[in-house]
Amino acid sequence: METFRIGGEKAVGRLGFGAMRLPTEAGPQRQASVAVARRAVELGVTLIDTAHLYGWGANEELLAEALHPYPPELLVTTKVGVAPPPPGGEADLCGRPEFLREQVEDGLRRLRVERLELLQLHRVDPQVPLADQVGTLRDLRAQGKIGHIGLSEVNVAQLQEARGIVEIASVQNRYNVLDREHEAVLEACEAAGIAFLPWRPVHPAASQDAGEIAEVAAETGATAAQVALAWLLQRSPVMLPIPGTAGIAHLEENVAAAYLRLSGEQYDRLDRLAAP
Ligand SMILES: NC(=O)c1ccc[n+]([C@@H]2O[C@H](COP(=O)([O-])OP(=O)(O)OC[C@H]3O[C@@H](n4cnc5c(N)ncnc54)[C@H](OP(=O)(O)O)[C@@H]3O)[C@@H](O)[C@H]2O)c1
Repeated sequence: METFRIGGEKAVGRLGFGAMRLPTEAGPQRQASVAVARRAVELGVTLIDTAHLYGWGANEELLAEALHPYPPELLVTTKVGVAPPPPGGEADLCGRPEFLREQVEDGLRRLRVERLELLQLHRVDPQVPLADQVGTLRDLRAQGKIGHIGLSEVNVAQLQEARGIVEIASVQNRYNVLDREHEAVLEACEAAGIAFLPWRPVHPAASQDAGEIAEVAAETGATAAQVALAWLLQRSPVMLPIPGTAGIAHLEENVAAAYLRLSGEQYDRLDRLAAP
C-alpha cells in the first residue's frame, strides 16, 4: 500500500480505518469489534481513527483491548474537544484548555500510551479563542504528550490561523466523490503537505446518485464502495480515507480498494459528479 508521512515523519498506509462504528458493549458484538480491529492491522492498515466522543472513551478502550501492545508501524489517532452531556442535557463542544488537557490525559490512559502520535481537535469551539485551543495542544506537544496535531471540520481561514500558532499535520473534514464542500481545504492541505482524512468516504456507494459509480464498478470488476475509495486516493496524494465498518467483509473490501486504479477517463467521469 502507498504510504504518507504524517507531519513529514511517521509513514502510514494511505487507506486507513475509522473505528467509530464498532459496537463496544460487552458480549459477542464486542468480540466481533475486536476481531475487526485486529483484522484491519493484519490486512496492513496502519492508520486507525477514533475519538473520545465515540462512546466517551469506550471506543479508545476497545482499540486498546484489541491491539495493545501496538505494532510499531500502527498509528492510532484520537480526537478531543467534545464534552459529554450533563444529566438531562446535550453533548457540546468544549475547547477550554483545562478540558482539552483532561481529555488528552484520558486518551493516553485509555489507549495505554505515553504519547498520542496524532491528536486531533474534533471541532473548533467558537466560544474559546482558537489560539487558546491550538496553543494548549502545542503546550502538550512540548511536554511530549502529543506527537503531531490535527484539526477536524475546519475552513481554510481556521486552518491558516492554526498554522500560525503551531504546525498542523492533518485535517479531518467530511469529503467524498459526491460531497466536495471542503475542496478549498483539501487544496490548502495539499499545498502544505498536510494529511487530509476525509470522513464519510464510502457513503456515496449507497447513495441514490451512485449510478455512475456503479457503472465504473461494473467496468473494473470492483464494488461501488471500492470505486468511491479509489477515486479519493487518486484525487490527491495527501488524501488518507478512513472508511468505517463493523464487519470483516466490508473491511476486506475497503482495504483492497488501496490497490484499485481507475483509468483517467473513469476518474474524470466521477470527478464530474459533483461540482467542487
Ligand atoms: N471528524 C469527524 O467529525 C467525523 C465524523 C464522522 C466520522 N468520522 C470518522 O470517519 C470514519 C468514517 O466515517 P463514516 O463511518 O461516517 O462514513 P463511511 O466510512 O463512509 O461509511 C460507513 C458506513 O458505510 C458502510 N460501509 C462500509 N464499508 C462498506 C462497503 N464496502 N460496502 C457497503 N457499505 C459499507 C458501513 O456499514 P457496515 O458496518 O455495515 O459495513 C457504515 O454504515 C468514522 O469511523 C470516524 O472514524 C469523523
